[in-house]
Amino acid sequence: MIKTVFITGADKGLGFSLVQQFLRAGMRVFAGQYQTDSDLSELAKSFPQTLTPIPLDVTQLASVIWAAETVAKLVPALDVLINNAGVMLEKRTPLLELDLSQLPLFETLDVNTFGPLRMVQQFLPLLEKGEHKLILNISSEAGSLADCWRESEFAYSMSKAALNMQSKILQNHLKPRGFKILAVHPGWMRTDMGGSEADINPDEAAEGIFKLAVKNWNLDDGIYMDYKAQPINW
Ligand SMILES: NC(=O)c1ccc[n+]([C@@H]2O[C@H](COP(=O)([O-])OP(=O)(O)OC[C@H]3O[C@@H](n4cnc5c(N)ncnc54)[C@H](OP(=O)(O)O)[C@@H]3O)[C@@H](O)[C@H]2O)c1
Repeated sequence: MIKTVFITGADKGLGFSLVQQFLRAGMRVFAGQYQTDSDLSELAKSFPQTLTPIPLDVTQLASVIWAAETVAKLVPALDVLINNAGVMLEKRTPLLELDLSQLPLFETLDVNTFGPLRMVQQFLPLLEKGEHKLILNISSEAGSLADCWRESEFAYSMSKAALNMQSKILQNHLKPRGFKILAVHPGWMRTDMGGSEADINPDEAAEGIFKLAVKNWNLDDGIYMDYKAQPINW
């Protein structure tokens, strides 16, 4: 039974939808707040007992350490960590028009790939004390090598492919300690990142991801899937 969850990048988009989904289920939610003020602050007023916004920049180790220490003072354990914070900093520029000196590869990796790793490292002691022991990384179909169709968007796609590798390594490392790791494609969502032409509303993705989060996983089950639990090729 999940009681506590931490969700990064929760000011808007999928993160904000996930926060509402877990709150509706009566869970204790810690929500990473990147902006100083957002809808999250307003929502927290309606859920004073169960929602705690935590200022968090996943690229700053000190910020991640502070977040973990703050949560540890409030609850004895954390059941689920959802690494949702992400950036897409580039356009679909063809290779020959691309200024490689401006390619935001390191900035993208810092948020999308190293961010989740910083979070796992610092929250591991709390997660170890949790009953559910689930780390759910929000990945993307853009991280699939086998099914890649893109001809650009290098930085974003490479950051998600690396996040997938990170998820697999963590699963190998943490399986003996009872942890399950998931790398989940949330679908193409109508958010600031996905744009208005996208397929689904982030609430629909959050509903599916909630079901994945509460499921009792076999540690040998697949890792990489979409929000409807359909496996994705690595
Ligand atoms: N949208 C899609 O179609 C789609 C498809 C596949 C995968 N995804 C993945 O789904 C996740 C959520 O995407 P979304 O569409 O909801 O995007 P979004 O609306 O842009 O939300 C992303 C959130 O992450 C925050 N963030 C950015 N840098 C951060 C940092 N250094 N530390 C903490 N938080 C930070 C953003 O804050 P600011 O806005 O203030 O920078 C924002 O609140 C991402 O991991 C994304 O890669 C999205």
